[in-house]
Amino acid sequence: SRAEPCSIVIFGATGDLTHRKLIPALYNLAVDGELPTGVKIIGFARREKADEEFRTGLEELNKKVSRSGQDEAIWRPFIQTVSYHTSEFTDAAGYKSLADKLDAIDAERGGKGNRLFYVASAPEFFDEILINLKNAGLNEAKPGCWSRVIVEKPFGTDLATAKHLNQVVNDTFHESDTYRIDHYLGKETAQNLMVLRFANSIFEPLWNSKYISHIQITCAENLGMEGGRGGYYEKSGALRDMVQNHLLQLLSLVAMEPPTDLSADGVRDEKVKVIRSLRQWDTPEKVAKNVVRAQYTAGHIDGNSVPGYREEDRVSPESDTEAYVAVRLLIDTWRWSGVPFYIRMGKRLPKKSTEISVHFKDAPCVLFNATCGGVPGGNVLVIRIQPDEGISLRMVSKIPGTSLRLEPVKMDFHYSTSFGKGSPEAYERLLLDAIAGDATLFARRDEVEEAWKFIDHIEHAWHQSATPPPMAEFVAGSWGPREADQLLQQDGNQWRRL
Ligand code: BG6
Repeated sequence: SRAEPCSIVIFGATGDLTHRKLIPALYNLAVDGELPTGVKIIGFARREKADEEFRTGLEELNKKVSRSGQDEAIWRPFIQTVSYHTSEFTDAAGYKSLADKLDAIDAERGGKGNRLFYVASAPEFFDEILINLKNAGLNEAKPGCWSRVIVEKPFGTDLATAKHLNQVVNDTFHESDTYRIDHYLGKETAQNLMVLRFANSIFEPLWNSKYISHIQITCAENLGMEGGRGGYYEKSGALRDMVQNHLLQLLSLVAMEPPTDLSADGVRDEKVKVIRSLRQWDTPEKVAKNVVRAQYTAGHIDGNSVPGYREEDRVSPESDTEAYVAVRLLIDTWRWSGVPFYIRMGKRLPKKSTEISVHFKDAPCVLFNATCGGVPGGNVLVIRIQPDEGISLRMVSKIPGTSLRLEPVKMDFHYSTSFGKGSPEAYERLLLDAIAGDATLFARRDEVEEAWKFIDHIEHAWHQSATPPPMAEFVAGSWGPREADQLLQQDGNQWRRL
């Protein structure tokens, strides 16, 4: 393994994330032999629990969700490294006893005291946890060791709260020891974006306003507000939940300039420039023209009837929270001058699918117009983030035969067939990177704040202006509201059919 042994403390250990993502990810790293020996995992949470009970709960979920099944020979020793620490997040004594536990672990390991704190509790406790870590001296690394923090989303709810959280984080840990997680950056295809662009010579010369007509990023989900999610979602909405972080991160990878090197700051310097160059939709009129928000009404998904957003569990019948958002963006740089980017995200769309599509300008089609009635659309490069990870290129071809007729065809690359194995889960890569001290795939302070600046204008127009742009509607199980189609029609474009 490229990483050193450490203790990992997970705050909010009884939560869904720990059970569904973090422990299965750590277990999969163990299966692949990537988890350094000597790693100890401590779950920190309020609910009274014995180690054994905690482990049993983790085991039940791991069996269901683990991508590599559950191999008892690996699971048994792995789960023995996991223990549970009961404490209120606000109780200084709980951090003191945590420090004692960690010291005891270090002593067993011959004094080596690397620590990774993973803040995955409910967001209202983030500050408290960080401050208590500092008060217990746990933020300071022992000589020759490191002490790092991973902060889960949501990283603030607007620019002011994000700045505040950044302040608290930076008062506690060095920026270089701070890992703001965005699990989309850990997805295999998101990582491959840089390779696609910069390790191939055929794409980059075309990757600009001269050849590209527009770029779309779609993140469709068919789930709604299952499992009590409505309570959180009501306060967040699609724009804050996914656009501020995941989708703007994808956008910056697609649009950034080549970095000078692959160091964390080399890459993040370029990404943040993209976010900083976004044209701001800073009046209700601009928001009305460039952003569409919507809620779904009752409908069907896979033949099953599903409720409308306002009828979902823990959602207000008068809710003005968007469960769908589409945004038209302009990036004011030389490369992207005049090229619209369209982002859409929605719950209760027909299926789960995330992709980026790069739409190239049409070839000058004088040649084929006269003989065969034109060219059926142009070149589109589709990067499928999930599921069925891969890349495809749409081209125009002659239909075999004696007459000249044209049809689009596809050149297709699937990860599953080319590499014959599934990709690791995003959290596996990201946890390992944090243990190894590589922050490239984590958001930097300025990226988070610049993204909030863009989002805040839109939220402001929706919730605090005298003339808020309307809330559109679509039937659950359809591809979003009509207004989102019109958003593209103003540029003569349309959404790619998924
Ligand atoms: C989370 C959002 O960050 O990402 C969820 O809070 C969303 O609302 C999820 O469903 C999507 O992640 P993935 O990896 O399933 O696409």
